[in-house]
Amino acid sequence: MCGIVGYVGGRSALDVVLAGLRRLEYRGYDSAGVAVLADGGLAAAKKAGKLANLEKELADRPLPSGTTGIGHTRWATHGGPTDANAHPHLDNPGRVAVVHNGIIENFAALRAELAERGHALASETDTEVVSHLLSEAFSSCGDLAEAMRQVCRRLEGAFTLVAVHADDPDVVVGARRNSPLVVGVGDGEAFLASDVAAFIAHTREAVELGQDQVVELRRDAVTVTDFEGAPADVRAYHVDWDASAAEKGGYDYFMLKEIAEQPKAVADTLLGRIDASGSLTLDEVRIPASVLREVDKVVVVACGTAFHAGMIAKYAIEHWTRIPCETELASEFRYRDPILDQRTLVIAISQSGETMDTLMALRHAREQGAKVLAICNTNGSTIPRESDAVLYTHAGPEVAVASTKAFLTQLVACYLVALYLGQVRGTKWGDEIQSVIRELDGIGTQVEEVLETMEPVRELARSLAGKNTVLFLGRHVGYPVALEGALKLKELAYMHAEGFAAGELKHGPIALIEDDLPVVVVVPSPRGRSVLHDKIVSNIQEIRARGARTIVIAERGDEAVRPYADHLVEIPATPVLLQPLVATVPLQVFACELATARGNEVDQPRNLAKSVTVE
Ligand code: F6R
Repeated sequence: MCGIVGYVGGRSALDVVLAGLRRLEYRGYDSAGVAVLADGGLAAAKKAGKLANLEKELADRPLPSGTTGIGHTRWATHGGPTDANAHPHLDNPGRVAVVHNGIIENFAALRAELAERGHALASETDTEVVSHLLSEAFSSCGDLAEAMRQVCRRLEGAFTLVAVHADDPDVVVGARRNSPLVVGVGDGEAFLASDVAAFIAHTREAVELGQDQVVELRRDAVTVTDFEGAPADVRAYHVDWDASAAEKGGYDYFMLKEIAEQPKAVADTLLGRIDASGSLTLDEVRIPASVLREVDKVVVVACGTAFHAGMIAKYAIEHWTRIPCETELASEFRYRDPILDQRTLVIAISQSGETMDTLMALRHAREQGAKVLAICNTNGSTIPRESDAVLYTHAGPEVAVASTKAFLTQLVACYLVALYLGQVRGTKWGDEIQSVIRELDGIGTQVEEVLETMEPVRELARSLAGKNTVLFLGRHVGYPVALEGALKLKELAYMHAEGFAAGELKHGPIALIEDDLPVVVVVPSPRGRSVLHDKIVSNIQEIRARGARTIVIAERGDEAVRPYADHLVEIPATPVLLQPLVATVPLQVFACELATARGNEVDQPRNLAKSVTVE
């Protein structure tokens, strides 16, 4: 939510900041703005709408050039997406500029206080109070980093702030509480951004900022303190992907590229985690095996697509470990007073590592004494930092707002955790665990096979562009897949899409079936748990008898479903629990193509942002 960039160095700050904002536009895209320090003063421009509007404004009315600057791309919280509410926000003399990600909860009281002291605030945002407070603090201490520390001590809520002051022209100052902020260290230049993607074209050396820290950036020095001014510990790291990973690479949309990258993302997430003897070696899981053997309950917390991965984890964990597992929406979890103790393992799943609901859930779990294992795709983000252990997914940067490759790698990580728990605890499924580990190792090739056969799915999607509703049905692990298919369609195609457990049909949803209504059905393998298969074949017949147009996703060679499928999408055979890895892919392609056919913006769907750093 909101993308932030700051730069100090030898190049045109405006060029660096705008290029960075282009890379961060996935974080928010309802307005954008920049400020540069030039000719002893501060020049700013901001515009409602996409970054292109700001770029046009800058082409019409260029800013003077300078080598220190900041920029912002916004996802509105306080105040609508207007020019006035766009960031940066300035103080009254126009000497300080501030950009912000998060929510300042006590802004109303601070605003009233500032108004009493004669400040005139021009926007409806919570952010603007910071520029005025910084202006006052700087007037008395003459040091922007110290002024930022003083202001941060007065703020409540979640915030990442970046500021410049015309009287301190070679400095950019940032502050971090909860929302992400990363430093990029170049040669004679330094960067600040919400995500390394903003500066990866210039440097791959990064410094991760911790909670409640203030950073002062100069061309050749980066100084980090806590909010009191004491030197702070920080972690420097090398980013293991390059600029090309954050570009479209010839695809029309990031989403298409990310769907295509799934075989590699899955293989990368498995890399180094299965040893020559076929056992799992999850060294990152720093929770000792003795503690894992004592775990008597697992709770998975996550949001959105990550929650669907967590639902599938429940099936895997309970089957392979016999430990009771609950999967819960992170936003609901802590408000219902969950029962947790030292023997509970909480698994927090998050692509971004900064989803506020998931972060709050894991904090709550740790306060109750539970151990927390994060499954995360973003190195250095808050959720893994605050967990007892982390299993990183190696999907690479995911830019499209709709999650695809991150989901598949979250599934892989969930299977790894479930299998590892089974391995450590020596459950009776030992042989099955060994054979699933072998199958998992080859799953990337099967995802590749699915991708090669997607043209009929695209064609079908285009033919349904005029429909208003699509339903999705599944059973067992196919149920979360159905929910994920429906979520993708809602967020991308803006259609009414609902996922149901097929067994629930007769308890209500079947009333929705009408003539030619498209219903996607995810069919479990006829091998293994064939009872599930037979039940869903009956469900397909029931809906077809009522006029539904059935779109059936079934294992290749499953002849039993063929007579009832108006459209049959065949997927490779996998072990029952692994089927979501191949069954989800056609649903991603379906949603992406339908959205395109309806003229929607695939990478930046309306009202959404990539990471949700507010509750
Ligand atoms: C949907 C989607 C969201 C995210 C959710 C959690 O396509 O991307 O539902 O899955 O906001 O985000 P993370 O995984 O970053 O915690």
